[in-house]
Amino acid sequence: MKRSRSRIVCALLLGFSFAVTCVSASADEYGRRDQQGQNERAERHDHDTVLQGRQTFRFDTFGDEDFWGGTLKLHQAIEGSAFGGVGAGVSPKTALAVGLKVDVDALPASVLNALRSGKVNLDDPAVTLTLLKLNAVVGVTGFFQSGLSLKSIGIQCALCHSTVDNSFAPGIGHRLDGWANRDLNVGAIVSLAPDLSAVAEPDRYKKALERAGFAVTAERNRRDFALAFFADLRAKTAAAGGPPPLGLHVLMGKTTPEKVQNMIDNISKGRIAPVELIARKL
Ligand code: HEC
Repeated sequence: MKRSRSRIVCALLLGFSFAVTCVSASADEYGRRDQQGQNERAERHDHDTVLQGRQTFRFDTFGDEDFWGGTLKLHQAIEGSAFGGVGAGVSPKTALAVGLKVDVDALPASVLNALRSGKVNLDDPAVTLTLLKLNAVVGVTGFFQSGLSLKSIGIQCALCHSTVDNSFAPGIGHRLDGWANRDLNVGAIVSLAPDLSAVAEPDRYKKALERAGFAVTAERNRRDFALAFFADLRAKTAAAGGPPPLGLHVLMGKTTPEKVQNMIDNISKGRIAPVELIARKL
């Protein structure tokens, strides 16, 4: 209260051109205290914001389990038929081989000891499910219905933008947030999906847009544009003696040329198509 009153007084005084009166010792004192309090509040806020951001980055799926589980049904492939899904399930060995990382700090001492003494069967999908339940698979959240049976699976920023320091074993260690996971084989992971019906023809997208109240005003198959783009990119890369220091290839790793070639082949053979749809909300 005191402070705001002194501000009002200052404003009045300034208004009457008595500015000098404002620079009193007490106003200075208030100013200093105010600044100190503000710095402390800012620091506390900073710290809380960092923790909040870290929590979001590591654990918030933003509801994408609707896609990874709900649409692709990846959780069924991970749990396998023994837990209500399909197929053999994904063993920890396979999970590590496709580049997933395990956060050693999320593992209880009993599990760490069992791992150290080789008592954990790394071929058993139940172990993968246990790791998910412990929130120990970096960037992946399992949503469980009962026991080790999954309802869905979601991912977060940390899946691609974190790795671990391998302090416990290759692929198992302390989290390193903000380090690209360069071992992640997204193609191999998605190819496990039992339901790829979400990869649909343009007609299905158009109908879905119309159902949602949009009118499609233009449609262009950008196949030729894409093929020309990649041909140009390849020529530029060859002329420069390799790719630039930064780019998607950093994350895609050593097999970038093979992956890009697969995509070009699939586009040129018409298996996939970059289709541009422009729609207007009615
Ligand atoms: C499926 C993997 C994946 C996920 C999940 C992911 N990203 Fe990315 N992110 C990438 C890739 C790949 C790039 C690089 C794109 C490029 O170089 O063109 C990137 C680039 C970025 C960049 C730009 C970095 C730069 O230096 O230009 C930021 C920022 C970013 N991501 C933040 C996030 C945040 C925040 C989340 C979570 C909400 C997230 N990402 C989730 C794969 C992912």
